[in-house]
Amino acid sequence: MANVIVIGAQWGDEGKGKITDLLSRSADVVVRYQGGVNAGHTIVVNGQTFKLHLIPSGILYPNTECMIGCGTVIDPQVLIKELDQLEALGISTRNLLISETAHVTMPYHRLIDQASEERRGSYKIGTTGRGIGPTYADKSERTGIRVLDLMNPEGLREQLEWTINYKNVILEKLYNLPLLDPKQVIDEYLGYAERLRPYVVDTSLKIYDAIQRRRNILFEGAQGTLLDLDHGTYPYVTSSNPVAGGACVGTGLGPTMIDRVIGIAKAYTTRVGEGPFPTEIGGEMGEVLCTRGAEFGTTTGRRRRCGWFDAVIGRYAVRINGMDCLAITKLDVLDELEQIQVCVAYEIDGERSEHFPSNARKFAQCRPIYKTMPGWKTSTSDCRTLEELPKQALDYLKFLAELTEVPIAIVSLGASRDQTIIVEDPIHGPKRGLLYQDGTPASLLSA
Ligand code: GDP
Ligand code: IMO
Ligand code: MG
Repeated sequence: MANVIVIGAQWGDEGKGKITDLLSRSADVVVRYQGGVNAGHTIVVNGQTFKLHLIPSGILYPNTECMIGCGTVIDPQVLIKELDQLEALGISTRNLLISETAHVTMPYHRLIDQASEERRGSYKIGTTGRGIGPTYADKSERTGIRVLDLMNPEGLREQLEWTINYKNVILEKLYNLPLLDPKQVIDEYLGYAERLRPYVVDTSLKIYDAIQRRRNILFEGAQGTLLDLDHGTYPYVTSSNPVAGGACVGTGLGPTMIDRVIGIAKAYTTRVGEGPFPTEIGGEMGEVLCTRGAEFGTTTGRRRRCGWFDAVIGRYAVRINGMDCLAITKLDVLDELEQIQVCVAYEIDGERSEHFPSNARKFAQCRPIYKTMPGWKTSTSDCRTLEELPKQALDYLKFLAELTEVPIAIVSLGASRDQTIIVEDPIHGPKRGLLYQDGTPASLLSA
């Protein structure tokens, strides 16, 4: 029995979907704990691609129970579309459960998200426009609609009547937008409620029950550490807590129940939306990474900004998440490069620093200090063991493990389930992975 959290160690899109799907093989339950339809998690199995926004990446396994926890925000329209798409592909969704205390994204949330971004002009966050910030804002302001409210037609009519009239003032007076018709919205959402009703339960009770029955539970993070509302590059963040700590709050599980935390990081870095990104590469090299990595957003289709691996961010993510091991994804994207840069530290105000500065202004001024590694200039996508990797690729991985001070348990070399090297079983193995030999960092052994 092991309860494991899978988190993004960078700015999202690290390949959490692929790795969660892979690990779901050994899981009885897979739970999403935060975020909403801003997430886009891709799974490729036997040439077929699945793009999930809210449904946990364990859904492809017929005997795995999937839950959408209370810390998420649910857009019923998108969720129902996702359910229909999976069912049309022959994937059963009868094992899905939805928390009754998760908050619901309403049409006014999407409208306000998009309008406020436009109003911010050059100060915009670059959100996905899916209403995520306004839904979480209403949750904090205590004017949110929860899934259990949706399930109560009479109460919902009254609650939405009041809320929509209130939001209409904001839409009209602040953003000069047309008013929403309360009756139309209420009817639409009552329809969604009936479709979702069979899935709705107290998921925290179900999770506790699974723990008592010694089931393996996987907690699937959305977004990434640097997009965390409290620990990321504020204000250029999302409105929830993707870090490992968020898994407890977002599911109702006590921290003593967590056994492991697995961080997912690309072998380089990407970011969508605005905000500082010290290792960002422009020009031809940025184009090469974007093209080879097919770096276009799963949710919005936006081009992802690309940069070199940033070990300062990596170390920070290890610390903030209490990470046990890393899965490095998309190593194959670097296959053709002559040379690869790795950011080992920052220069801040003329001084070298090994640490991520929590001060956003300082972070924006950080200049990366690079170490150049030789490329391997050969395809790795068919490698299935560390021994099959070119020496330079293995050296590159060892260097990342040494810099981030955490073992690498998984290496991903392509989008498919099978394009993976499992160095060490990240769930039940002895917490060693690539860096450690007999519990001692390999880099120290060779020093
Ligand atoms: P997530 O949001 O963290 O689940 O990541 P996304 O699915 O948004 O983006 C990751 C993209 O990279 C997807 O298109 C995956 O299919 C793809 N991918 C995942 N792992 C690998 C890998 O090792 N190599 C390559 N080339 N693509 C990968
Ligand atoms: P997954 O789970 C990458 C980014 C947006 C924007 C910021 C705030 O697929 O890794 P929001 O709509 O959340 O208010 O936008 O966060 N963002 C993501 N970037 N991957 C994601 O999810 C993201 N979800 C939000 O681009 O910069
Ligand atoms: Mg994504």
